Amino acid sequence: MSIIQFPKDMKWGTATASYQIEGATKEDGRGQTIWDTFSKTPGNVLNGDNGDVACNSYHRYEEDVQIMKELGIDVYRFSVAWSRIFPEGNGEVNQKGLDYYHRLIDELLANGIEPMCTLYHWDLPQALQDKGGWNNRETIDAFVNYAETMFKEFSGKINYWLTLNEPWCISFLSNYIGVHAPGNQDLQLATQISHHLLLAHGETVKKFRDLNIKGEIGFAPNTTWLEPFSNQQEDIDACKREVAWYVEWFMDPVFKGEYPSFMVDWFKKKGVELVIEDGDMEAINQPIDFLGINYYTGHVARYKENEGLLDWEMVEMNYDRTDIGWPIFPQGFYNVLTHITESYGKVPIYITENGSCYNDEPENGRVKDDGRINYLQQHLTALSGAIKSGVNVKGYLTWSLMDNFEWAEGYSKRFGIVHVNYRTLERTKKDSYYWFKQTIENNWFEN
Ligand code: NOJ
Repeated sequence: MSIIQFPKDMKWGTATASYQIEGATKEDGRGQTIWDTFSKTPGNVLNGDNGDVACNSYHRYEEDVQIMKELGIDVYRFSVAWSRIFPEGNGEVNQKGLDYYHRLIDELLANGIEPMCTLYHWDLPQALQDKGGWNNRETIDAFVNYAETMFKEFSGKINYWLTLNEPWCISFLSNYIGVHAPGNQDLQLATQISHHLLLAHGETVKKFRDLNIKGEIGFAPNTTWLEPFSNQQEDIDACKREVAWYVEWFMDPVFKGEYPSFMVDWFKKKGVELVIEDGDMEAINQPIDFLGINYYTGHVARYKENEGLLDWEMVEMNYDRTDIGWPIFPQGFYNVLTHITESYGKVPIYITENGSCYNDEPENGRVKDDGRINYLQQHLTALSGAIKSGVNVKGYLTWSLMDNFEWAEGYSKRFGIVHVNYRTLERTKKDSYYWFKQTIENNWFEN
């Protein structure tokens, strides 16, 4: 038994995203998004689920804020549905959309919880997709305009802003692997989109500075860690490539103003020609105030010629896995955090997502999700180790406050510390909720 203790000023929180929890997809002028279209196209989402109702947080946000208050969190990360603010992506602003987020944010502030706002968590207005989506540079302008509207409207109420959530997913998972909206399978397209996303991020940060908005801004890339099976160079390089696809590909441009050349060469070999216009890299290379890190899983891997895009295969090590099948690999959390700090310096980091899928159901009003408690303990222990090694961690937000629409997996995969009954929408606090509450209160736990 040992005590895992966190820094005094550590901020604790939970995270969600608009399409995954809000529902009310046709209310108060909200425009349709690529996830409405994608989820309603048969074959894309398990069981044909969609976000029409989700957790109905659009109407139940007061109840949800009370759940957060009792939990004792400092920060709540949520995302804004761009199409509630601009139903067509640009043009006339929809006052009713702004009103909803005012209600939510006022409720949070009244209960002593700081809002952390993600501007883009995947629900692109369909009208913009119809004109090419993120492959069209006009989408960047539309995004900056939407961000500007949000900054001006909520300046003084929101102190933490994130431009993009998981740009790897928005580009490669959605446009190369094709399992998320809009569902393309085209590496050239996906890679070009990754560049446009970084530009949208950089231009938005510039706008934030130009407008002199009080507060902090960053972005939230998803990370993973692959540990080389052996110390042979080809195993080391294979793991390095996969990690770089998530980490360096998105962080080097932001922190260093350039793409990692070994990845550019690799993509070139695969036929990708990235179009970079004059001034793009400078625009992307804006100082940010903090980095959001999402981490869930990692594993051991080795080189395998012509395997997938990056020539590696997973080595089976009898990992414990969560109910979505992802190996539990807390060591990877430590490794990726120290790797980022070595590469980019002591940038302030918020863990904007970390959590696990366990599908435990209530029995007599109680949800015994020991698996999730275990996962949290292991990852918070790794996090504490990273802090001791000099990683500048400011906060930890778990994914997720409650079970919600898990994208292509629909409602079949539960990540919440609060259970949602999708028939009645009743919320039930799980054992992990109470464990997290105690940890927040103490600022330490025993493992
Ligand atoms: C990352 C995404 O940001 C979030 O939307 C998703 O639900 C979780 N990972 C779990 O897969």
